[in-house]
Amino acid sequence: YKLPVVRNEPNLHYTVNSAERAALKEALAELEAAAPFEVPAFVGGKEVQLGGERTVQPMPHNHQKALATFATSTPELTSEAIEHALAAQKEWEQMPFNDRAAIFLRAADLVSGKYRAKICAATMLGQGKNVWQAEIDAAAELADFFRFGASQCEQLYAQQPTENSPGVWNRSEYRPLEGFVFAVTPFNFTAISGNLVGAPALTGNVLVWKPSPTATYSSWLVLQILLEAGLPKNVIQFLPCPNGEATISLVDRVLEHRMFAGLHFTGSTHVFRQLWKKIGNNVDKYLSYPRIVGETGGKNFQLVHPSADVRAAAIGALRGAFEYQGQKCSALSRLYVPKSLEEEFFKVLVEEVEKISVGSVTEFEHFMGPVISQQSYDKVLSYVEKAKAAGGKVLTGGVGDNSKGFFVKPTVIKTQDPLSPTMVDEIFGPVLTAYVYDDAKFEETCKLIDETTTYALTGCIWSNDRAATVKASALLRHSAGNFYINDKSTGAVVGQQPFGGARGSGTNDKAGSLNLFARFCQIRSIKETF
Ligand code: ALA
Repeated sequence: YKLPVVRNEPNLHYTVNSAERAALKEALAELEAAAPFEVPAFVGGKEVQLGGERTVQPMPHNHQKALATFATSTPELTSEAIEHALAAQKEWEQMPFNDRAAIFLRAADLVSGKYRAKICAATMLGQGKNVWQAEIDAAAELADFFRFGASQCEQLYAQQPTENSPGVWNRSEYRPLEGFVFAVTPFNFTAISGNLVGAPALTGNVLVWKPSPTATYSSWLVLQILLEAGLPKNVIQFLPCPNGEATISLVDRVLEHRMFAGLHFTGSTHVFRQLWKKIGNNVDKYLSYPRIVGETGGKNFQLVHPSADVRAAAIGALRGAFEYQGQKCSALSRLYVPKSLEEEFFKVLVEEVEKISVGSVTEFEHFMGPVISQQSYDKVLSYVEKAKAAGGKVLTGGVGDNSKGFFVKPTVIKTQDPLSPTMVDEIFGPVLTAYVYDDAKFEETCKLIDETTTYALTGCIWSNDRAATVKASALLRHSAGNFYINDKSTGAVVGQQPFGGARGSGTNDKAGSLNLFARFCQIRSIKETF
């Protein structure tokens, strides 16, 4: 059968007096009243509440309140989880693809319908997103990953040999990996968690899933939705775990298993490299060569050409840098402005940034909420100090208030040093550093952008000069996996702009495209002679 045609889930707007706003407010009130939720592990189709110390997932806008708590998944539980996953493998693999796909299509409908308010509320309270950022993530993008995932998987499976000699029928059979996939998911997008488990599962793989400690509750909801949609209970094993030693023990247990077959990761470059090294060291233990798929750091750029529409470029920079407090992997953090536009550009940018309100996500009126944690708060402010020490000038922001939530003002820094720490290092917070270039040195500036970091995730150019755009696009060919012309550096849409960088930013397997699904398949070529 052919699957139904899929479309991107339209965003709701949550205008005053709208039904969706009322439903979301109700969901927020319900979650706040019922919190903290005791999130269990989920192993062998059963909830497992372990003893021992519980880790708190606080609400970043009000850190004295906990959204959830969870116990530490031990190496013993991890081993059990792996065996349960492996035991489920055959049945899941043999389920016809249309039935696997139907589970994900149904899950998408649960996300966009019955669970929309709840999962948006969980993402707001637990991950500090405002209502609109939660909507584009936990409602629309999550549903899109499930729907487009089913459709892209179908397209992949339809790729068959086109040549047959007389009396011969050639086929390609798409098998899941032999073993289990390990998913390690981030805090910053509920949708990414869904995709990191969804893509391998759609292709018939079983999984062990370690969610982010700062997104444990929304990850748990994603699993609940998949189970309600009909996912067999043993396909995904869910192992909450705090950062640090406990995670290292869990990861070591996973990565030394003979049947470890794939890693699906989103997180920091450093952690990804650590995992890769461990996998390398263990390679003799494995039955198969594991597939390693990761989306990691970024130092995303915006280049403004002298021909650009100044206001549009400034607003693009503002949105790219400060939506979700600069915590999208795609967020803008380094900006290149030509001398000829300097005065006008910074006037507009600073004026508009100073209009940004920062505050509680439950108030529905702030453009920015909190950063995710105390650690992140400290890191952001310490980078402001580093930038100042390196001669940077703070044009606006640079301060925070963590008395109730982890709030940091949107910060714009101007520097004359293209190698200043905030021009080079990933901060993952609301800090935008700008460098003014000489108009005559446009090409040199493109080379500078390319050469001054080892990341290559997203980037954008604002220009109304086609020749300059073409030149920059060529010079920046390897500087970004997602390149935008006259648009901000964030907001890739599933099925429209496949997402993912290269170099230190990831393996470029492109979430939201059919390429990703190929990574979780082993193809058997079958030749039949009549
Ligand atoms: N898909 C997200 C974006 O492009 C990460 O902003």
